[in-house]
Amino acid sequence: MSEAQLKNTGTERSRSLEEIFEQRIANDEKIEPKDWMPEKYRKTHIRQISQHAHSEIVGMLPEGNWITRAPSLRRKVALLAKVQDEAGHGLYLYSACETLGISRDELYDQLHSGKAKYSSIFNYPTVTWADMGAIGWLVDGAAIINQVPLCNTSYGPYARAMIRVCKEESFHQRQGFEIMMSLCNGTEVQKQMAQDALNRWWWPSLMMLGPTDSESVHTEQSMKWKLKRKTNDELRQQFIDQTVPQADILGLTIPDPDLKWNEETGHYDFGEIDWEEFWQVVKGHGPCNKERMNARVGAWERGTWVRDAAMAYAEKQQDKKVNSAKAV
Ligand SMILES: [Fe+2]
Ligand SMILES: [Fe+2]
Repeated sequence: MSEAQLKNTGTERSRSLEEIFEQRIANDEKIEPKDWMPEKYRKTHIRQISQHAHSEIVGMLPEGNWITRAPSLRRKVALLAKVQDEAGHGLYLYSACETLGISRDELYDQLHSGKAKYSSIFNYPTVTWADMGAIGWLVDGAAIINQVPLCNTSYGPYARAMIRVCKEESFHQRQGFEIMMSLCNGTEVQKQMAQDALNRWWWPSLMMLGPTDSESVHTEQSMKWKLKRKTNDELRQQFIDQTVPQADILGLTIPDPDLKWNEETGHYDFGEIDWEEFWQVVKGHGPCNKERMNARVGAWERGTWVRDAAMAYAEKQQDKKVNSAKAV
């Protein structure tokens, strides 16, 4: 066979592999790590899953900041459990990402060098205890809306990780709402704290669901691969429709004068989102971007001796095994 013919056969084979792959996606079959997949599918998944994993890990920082200052033992235990859950989410997701052929070290390196992104929401400061309520209620609430459709995403390890993650996210959302409820049933000062926290977190929570569809470069391809099952704007509308009645129960006011129920569409209309602020934060100019990165890089550097010790111990154990096998 000539070189040209060989090349042609190769192209035909990969075309038919691609057709089989597309068919499997259309049939709602899961794609598993050892299955053939287009290189672009693999790369897109590495980007999205790692971005998700980084968000879980960086997301521990704003709340971890309040563990020592939680107002009661009960609140401390719940917050501690929540922050630990986020660490667990990060670990499942890093593991899922590694099945696509990238190492944990490379993933951390991408985060620490600023090459990889994480959710813009975690670059905002947590200034009062009420922020713990607002984050659980709004940020974890938005995360659930974003993540429930991912339980049906096409990549098997990602979809399976999301099932447990989503169960834990609903506990996070409820503990946040309960903090808000206690503050709103408390003194005037406490209720004002809750209102201030809502004012701070409302707009960043809407931005958290990603740029508007017309600006979102990855949406179309991701929808096709069922990596994404709903567009950013659909998710945002769902979040608003679900959250406004909850604010009514709390007796709080959503900081949007244009927010209004629309009988015709059956949805809430809402005001303009400040996308300029969103892009500034994404580009690294949010209030806490530097602080968050310093915390992550610092933790990585301070942990060097632990990793070295663990490796040395593992090698010693391995040597012991080899020596005792030789002795037998
Ligand atoms: Fe999480
Ligand atoms: Fe969470």
